[in-house]
Amino acid sequence: MKPITKAVFPVAGLGTRFLPATKASPKEMMPVVDKPLIQFAVEEAVASGITDLIFITGRSKRAIEDHFDKAYELENELALRQKTELLDIVRNILPKHVNCIYIRQTEALGLGHAVLCAKPVMANEAFAVLLADDLIVSKVPVIEQMCSAYAEHQASVLGVQEVAREDTSSYGIVATTPINAITERITAIVEKPKPALAPSTLAVVGRYILSPRIFHHLETIQPGAGGEIQLTDAISALLKEEPAIAYRYEGKRYDCGSKFGFLQATVEIGRSHPEVGQDFERYLKNLIKNPAQ
Ligand code: UTP
Repeated sequence: MKPITKAVFPVAGLGTRFLPATKASPKEMMPVVDKPLIQFAVEEAVASGITDLIFITGRSKRAIEDHFDKAYELENELALRQKTELLDIVRNILPKHVNCIYIRQTEALGLGHAVLCAKPVMANEAFAVLLADDLIVSKVPVIEQMCSAYAEHQASVLGVQEVAREDTSSYGIVATTPINAITERITAIVEKPKPALAPSTLAVVGRYILSPRIFHHLETIQPGAGGEIQLTDAISALLKEEPAIAYRYEGKRYDCGSKFGFLQATVEIGRSHPEVGQDFERYLKNLIKNPAQ
């Protein structure tokens, strides 16, 4: 079976929960300490063997293209000032063997529509989807874990985690039958069910391995909640034809699409940052001891 080499990064959402920060610059460029969210996701994909990065961009997203492009002026300036460490960081954001493809989603018609925008550059092959606002810290990159599950089960794989029942209305929720401790066969999927109606508390997070057949369903489903083409609805249609697996990934997820999750990521990743971690930890301890200062 062909290994998965393509990943789609939908980055065309409006990011309304972070306005005004996202008025003129993309949510995915917000840094956790010093690295933009999109770079965390790209590093995860590249470490998992992905070589083609397909960004689905929208208005105000030029910063993402610039971020992964060569920055001649900045590089010259850093070279002149002999800032070699910084020069290395700027030059090595992406390894040489990786290609970037940018496709514009002209209207934010939903996550499903964003994924459908990638169809013209896909052959008949399975591919990964990563939502950069779900930042996941793990020993083995989550997409690599999921590629292994794909190779084993030869089916679409959705990254899932348990959530509190009162939170089901923020997620796609799956009904499943267990296969083993970390994989389950999906029998149904519902978008943002009210807690009382949720078939389980197993929530889909922003990591997917999808069969190319998903495009057929994205093209034929009707717009769902909010007039958007919902990826969940297309997966639900796919389930009638093909099996799909829910995969309980190993790792800690931060929902950086929400202010609270973004703050959690900043504090926890900040504490282990090689440059500022120790000082930040000391500062936090002091702050807890003397909160009024
Ligand atoms: P969200 O549901 O988080 O929406 O999208 P959003 O617009 O980014 O943020 P809020 O809710 O207004 O604050 C989930 C992912 O799908 C992408 C987003 O960029 C994000 O990565 N997306 C969403 C698109 O690429 N296009 C869309 O039309 C909708």
